[in-house]
Amino acid sequence: MGDLTAVVRDAAEVATATGDLRGDDPAGVVEDAAVAVVDGGIAAVGPTEEVTREYPPENATHAVEARGRAVIPGYVDSHTHACFAGDRSDEFEAKLQGTTYGELLAAGGGIHRTVRATRAASDGELLDNLLDQLDVMVAHGTTTVEVKSGYGLDTETELRMLDVIDRADDRHPVDVVPTFMGAHAVPRDYDGDGDAVDADDYVDRVASEQLPAVADQGIAEFCDVFCDEGAFTVEQSRRVLEAGREHGLTPKVHAEELAHRGGTKLAAEVGAASADHLLHATDEDVQALIDTDVTPVLLPGTAFGLGADYADGRAMVDAGAPVAVATDFNPNCHSQSMAFASALACVEMGLTPAEALVAGTRNGARALDREALGTIREGASADLVVLDAPSHVHVPYSYGINRVATVLKAGRPVVG
Ligand code: NIG
Ligand code: FE
Repeated sequence: MGDLTAVVRDAAEVATATGDLRGDDPAGVVEDAAVAVVDGGIAAVGPTEEVTREYPPENATHAVEARGRAVIPGYVDSHTHACFAGDRSDEFEAKLQGTTYGELLAAGGGIHRTVRATRAASDGELLDNLLDQLDVMVAHGTTTVEVKSGYGLDTETELRMLDVIDRADDRHPVDVVPTFMGAHAVPRDYDGDGDAVDADDYVDRVASEQLPAVADQGIAEFCDVFCDEGAFTVEQSRRVLEAGREHGLTPKVHAEELAHRGGTKLAAEVGAASADHLLHATDEDVQALIDTDVTPVLLPGTAFGLGADYADGRAMVDAGAPVAVATDFNPNCHSQSMAFASALACVEMGLTPAEALVAGTRNGARALDREALGTIREGASADLVVLDAPSHVHVPYSYGINRVATVLKAGRPVVG
């Protein structure tokens, strides 16, 4: 046997997130249970007595007594824009007064404002900001997070963002998955003739300048595009995703967030890893995702902040879709908490707490092509959260409260 990294024992329950999403027990609960970790991977999960007989806690580097508490997989937050500079809290106030997201964007605020602040920030500032965000995330139980570029909208800053994302991954225990999102908005820049850059010209630049440079840099794994009203059309988005695919990047799509524009079907056609937001998706759209194995990623925090109608998560789960839930953490949706997203997924989208758990862990991992994460089963990475609560239900039940007591990343305590 390798090194016995950790034994977590006497948990009131271990919610393994291995159950069938449409079955009786999606959370895959094992009661009075323990988890043994060897060389950072899960070696055993089961009744405490059995596990500790084979893996005595006194031989473990880290012995965690979880008496009366629940253990869940570390959250896999599969959609964030956590690398940025600047502050847009005044836009939160403006939205409360009735200004819409689209109005802010059209007036040069929103994404454009964060682009200005991000371009002006040094690499050191961007890195410090991102590391601070990762600290908040892990304290709330997230052990893997996807972070997008997309606040540069020029080759230099897009590459800088990806480099910062890569450095944050090296320095922080949370695993960071890098996504290139040069097609996040049409920048408010001018071309050589002094004319404002239009969307088609910008898409050309993304495809012929940014993507080759991003591929050379070799950091980004996914290529995302904002296919929506006020952003990119389906045809422009397709062009970006196909160019990304040619450079080895797996597509992802921001689809049907502000209006129905056809991004979901595009995600299905290009074989995207995920289609995200889906506030305006139809039943037919959802079926297209199911048929082509694209993970629908729901971002209830965004609907909450926009005061918009929520995506119909209940209908998607009932239709058999492997629904994921993520935070969409960004200056317009300023919450890093997967617990808050889970509470909204339950109260506003009709998921059960067990479904929300699977959506925030196993299916988040699916949206990132990382099937070894997000569940507590033999062979998986030992990314574990011990809650200061007796069951996984207490995560959404305790809305607004952080119930995370201890976090283990690959079996090593990183919180608590
Ligand atoms: O997923 N919708 C596009 N992108 C982000 C918002 C980014 C921003 O407003 O800064 C989202 O909601
Ligand atoms: Fe987003």
